[in-house]
Amino acid sequence: MSFQLQPQPGQAYLAIEGLEHLLVEELAGHPYTRYERLFVVGTAPESTLYWYENCWEELYRIDFSSISTGAKALRSLQRSWWPYLWQQYRRGTLLQEALPHVSADPLSFGGVPLSSALGSWTLLSPQEMLASPRCASTRPQGRWDFVEDKLGPPSRAYLKLWEVFTRFAQQPQAGDLCLDLGASPGGWTWVLERLGAQIIAVDRSPLREDLMHSPRVEFRRGDAFGVSPAQLDAAQWLFCDVICYPHKLYDFIVAKVMPSSLKHAVCTLKFQGNSDQRGLIAQFAALPQSMVVHLSANKHELTWILTR
Ligand SMILES: C[S@@+](CC[C@H](N)C(=O)[O-])C[C@H]1O[C@@H](n2cnc3c(N)ncnc32)[C@H](O)[C@@H]1O
Repeated sequence: MSFQLQPQPGQAYLAIEGLEHLLVEELAGHPYTRYERLFVVGTAPESTLYWYENCWEELYRIDFSSISTGAKALRSLQRSWWPYLWQQYRRGTLLQEALPHVSADPLSFGGVPLSSALGSWTLLSPQEMLASPRCASTRPQGRWDFVEDKLGPPSRAYLKLWEVFTRFAQQPQAGDLCLDLGASPGGWTWVLERLGAQIIAVDRSPLREDLMHSPRVEFRRGDAFGVSPAQLDAAQWLFCDVICYPHKLYDFIVAKVMPSSLKHAVCTLKFQGNSDQRGLIAQFAALPQSMVVHLSANKHELTWILTR
């Protein structure tokens, strides 16, 4: 025998490491088979899922006799693959080595990441794989990791904006006016300043000293949600990383951001505690011309992005 390919119904979701319980919560009542972080569902769940890093969208079960026939089977579906190994590590590593090389190196911000399709596969037993040539993400394991700048930015929050600008290929242009709400100590302002944007940064605490003195940054001490409709209309981009209950952010967005002429917004939805937030997440996602995503740089957070 060489190999046998069998299309499988459904999808597989790779949960976020350490936050697997959130995907379990989202799938409540929906049947799935779990392989460590990989959740395989035979039919699409009724509601949209958010707490995952990658979705395997076209499943095949592959029976194969040797490493080389396993690699041949995968190559018959497409060129580039990345494994999710949760058992059979040695065999899995050998199989991946028999496939065309794929780099999982962190990205450099500003570079153009390869956007070619990347399939995912896992070993269910020594001679049985689950594979998907089509995945939601083109990154290994769905992770958007960057070569970090350990000296420049005042906080690690800058990684969220690097990821948004890279994944969605849109970022403020030099001279654009950006409102950065909840800006201290200034990780997001630091990113925006380096892009040449003009920034109004609002927080109750100041930014790092050098950012406070930048000619492109105007710091306003006060309540982030007190920004006026005129200030929102004047800006091209709104950024909000305020620590607050998500329903407070939702009310602010509905009352002030949606009626404004803002073209872009990036807001972090921070979920403290373990309460089930599915209804509220669905409300954010239902706002017109927007989406809710989990960023690799998000912890127990999601990000709401408006583009219009
Ligand atoms: C996670 S930090 C922001 C980090 C920042 N984006 C960065 O890149 O460094 C959250 C900030 O929200 C601010 N904050 C919380 N509630 C606020 C409010 N109502 N108005 C203004 N700032 C607020 C806090 O002072 C804190 O600096």
